[in-house]
Amino acid sequence: MNLVAFNGSPRKNGNTTAMLSELLRGARRSGASVAVYNTVDLHLRDCRGCLRCNVIKRCSLRGDDWPLISAAILQADVLVFAAPVYFHHLPASMKRLLDRFRSFLHVQITEDGLRHTPWQTWNKRLALLMCMGSPDETEARPACELFAHVTRMLGSGTTLQTILATRLALSGQIRMSEHELLHVYEKLHISAEYVPGDAARNRELLAACYRCGSDLGFAAAE
Ligand SMILES: Cc1cc2nc3c(=O)[nH]c(=O)nc-3n(C[C@H](O)[C@H](O)[C@H](O)COP(=O)(O)O)c2cc1C
Repeated sequence: MNLVAFNGSPRKNGNTTAMLSELLRGARRSGASVAVYNTVDLHLRDCRGCLRCNVIKRCSLRGDDWPLISAAILQADVLVFAAPVYFHHLPASMKRLLDRFRSFLHVQITEDGLRHTPWQTWNKRLALLMCMGSPDETEARPACELFAHVTRMLGSGTTLQTILATRLALSGQIRMSEHELLHVYEKLHISAEYVPGDAARNRELLAACYRCGSDLGFAAAE
């Protein structure tokens, strides 16, 4: 089983990386081979909107990492996208990557809307991990809706699992003990009464990421 993951956080030891690391640990335990790309380190040009991909069935842009990345995406059984919420949406480097997915599809304008037909058959499992400062996960709704849209575009063989983590501001906060969290909440003027519940919830979120990785690994090996 071949899993390709994209980490969209510029913070190398941030909450996104902690969630993704747990998912990858679970996937490796179930036999997956794993490749991880940090989107901030990828050399990907912005989609130019030329729409030539609608005719030539590939992206016409040259001189960046897309040939390598698109081949890895097409060969993967599982794709994982992990990112912090930035202004209700994805960080720019992750959005830049997703825009290039346009070249995987033929898009046709119909009377009812757009018809998306992938050039390849996409029987892949997608997972989306997102963390955010807000205590309210609806903060991530625009990004979640984008991934739901991408999943639908890629056809009925494609599925999406999502895990959202809230009230996380500092790098690596999701892994903090109750004692460390208390110190952070004092500094951030967040009531200490949330600490026990949040610490337990953070542990459960990391466990959910691990289970998600195990399930993806086992399912794709079937
Ligand atoms: C530029 C920027 C924009 C952000 N926008 C939001 C936002 O709209 N909603 C939110 O809940 N958190 C927002 N955050 C907070 C991050 O999502 C949060 O700190 C997250 O835990 C960072 O993940 P990381 O440690 O993996 O980088 C923003 C942070 C930055 C730096």
